[in-house]
Amino acid sequence: MAKYNVLFVLGGPGAGKGTQCDLIVKNYDYKHLSAGDLLREERQRAGSQYGEEIEGHIRAGTIVPVEITCSLLQRAMEDSGKKNFLIDGFPRNKDNLDGWNKAMDDVATVRRVLFFDCREDVCVDRCLNRGKTSGRSDDNMESLKKRIHTYNNSTMPIIDHYKALDLVSHLHAEKTPDEVFDDVKKVLDELKL
Ligand code: C5P
Ligand code: MG
Repeated sequence: MAKYNVLFVLGGPGAGKGTQCDLIVKNYDYKHLSAGDLLREERQRAGSQYGEEIEGHIRAGTIVPVEITCSLLQRAMEDSGKKNFLIDGFPRNKDNLDGWNKAMDDVATVRRVLFFDCREDVCVDRCLNRGKTSGRSDDNMESLKKRIHTYNNSTMPIIDHYKALDLVSHLHAEKTPDEVFDDVKKVLDELKL
């Protein structure tokens, strides 16, 4: 069986990963899987043994162990019947990266990393704004500080890892969604998946 094609979608909280993935799905044949959304779903699932552990990490802005996140991703990939995936918000740290490589090396190829690079003050404004309606337990100043800390300390090294492999497309994410998407289209059109 042919391997899955994967684009990782990374960037700080509020950088616009989900917004851009929604636009991509409308225009290209990709299945969007948000690691954060899958974890929030698992947290809500009746009978989940991981609910409390996940909520603890989400509030603290820390990263859930990869065994949980990667198996949610793997199952969603299998269930979708698709071949091309946008995996949004993963891998967030070295544990995520190592776990992915171990579990997915034979079944998926990382074709590109879309890195949405956005200034911290813009990210904070967007998340606090989203917090008015999102109902998310982590769109508040206290959790945001921790999420930004995790991003700078644990996620940036992962982006650097993929830069060294020449797999990163650096996108300027402070512009309007449509303007950012114009740049995204150039990357995807070149990839031709
Ligand atoms: O990507 P998103 O902002 O939705 O992620 C929300 C939270 O979900 C993160 O701050 C983190 O606590 C958790 N998460 C995780 N591992 C991932 C993605 C998200 O632990 N790979
Ligand atoms: Mg998101």
